[in-house]
Amino acid sequence: MLSCIQPTGEVHLGNYLGALRNWVSGQHEKDAFHGIVDLHALTITEAPDVVGQATLQLGAVLFAVGLDPDVATVFVQSHVTEHSQLGWIMECQVSFGELSRMTQFKDKSAKREHDFVSAGLFTYPALQAADILLYDTDEVPVGDDQRQHIEITRDIAIRFNHRFGDTFVLPKAVMPKAGARVMDLQDPTSKMSKSAGSDTGLVYLMEDPAAIMKKFKRAVTDSDSEVRFDREAKPGVSNLLEILAACTGESPEALATRYTQYGPLKTDTGEAVVELLRPVQARYTELMADRAELQSLLRKGAAKAGEVAAATLARAQRNIGLLPA
Ligand code: TYM
Repeated sequence: MLSCIQPTGEVHLGNYLGALRNWVSGQHEKDAFHGIVDLHALTITEAPDVVGQATLQLGAVLFAVGLDPDVATVFVQSHVTEHSQLGWIMECQVSFGELSRMTQFKDKSAKREHDFVSAGLFTYPALQAADILLYDTDEVPVGDDQRQHIEITRDIAIRFNHRFGDTFVLPKAVMPKAGARVMDLQDPTSKMSKSAGSDTGLVYLMEDPAAIMKKFKRAVTDSDSEVRFDREAKPGVSNLLEILAACTGESPEALATRYTQYGPLKTDTGEAVVELLRPVQARYTELMADRAELQSLLRKGAAKAGEVAAATLARAQRNIGLLPA
């Protein structure tokens, strides 16, 4: 099992419910690898000393949510140089046309209309394919927005195996029952996202409980007052029901039958999120107090990840038939 997260912006509830929680629950059953993908963050980084700091904080978040450094391999992408090396090889297995059809590139480049749109933002899925294929990954626990990136990784792997012989394992995306697509509380037709224009609809993992409650109480619903799970007709209410379902383990449909008004649904959902995050926030503060220890945990993760990555890269290079150094 492998999955990764970018050190850009603060980790939010969508990241947690869509991905991180599954990483934690999967670590005891699977051989788990989780990367903090700082090289991916470079696609939109233009200032010095930002990424390193964000990488360390994200390391603390990953251990705070419950990844156990003795069980899961948690590493920083740039510490395992094989990612960039296989990334280039992957760029040569994917076409300009395929990359042009990626909805994330279209969205992100449109949002950056007046900004610098790096070539890295365009070739991003090739590096992501390298991240995944380096670890002979079967399962990639992600939110719904990554579906297309996992599909293109499969296409790239199939093409490589066809060209150069059986080399890579074909991965599949794995998504949670509830929480695969957490929506913005103020704009429930858009996903909760680090790149949203304003943060009034975003709930951060490290946000103070009073601020979280305020955001849920102000969540956009609709003008009638029926509590029903229907993503198309009632996106705001359905988002709250789905978040509550992700927190409690019940189904959003069953939860809907218990409410006749929006107010109590908003309060209960806010409280469930605050309770879910409380222990995570406490552990985060402890972990951030010892940065040297955090860095040492990440170095150990990189050493373990590097062993697997080096073997896979060597296999790919051998199968292509690059002249050995
Ligand atoms: P990133 O850093 O944007 O997000 C990390 C994880 O959080 C999930 N997620 C959500 N899930 C539910 N609802 C939401 N609103 C929501 N927003 C984000 C994402 O699906 C993701 O699982 N390209 C990836 C990083 C990456 C990667 C990889 C992932 C690079 N290499 C290899 C898996 C495997 C990204 O930008 O995720």
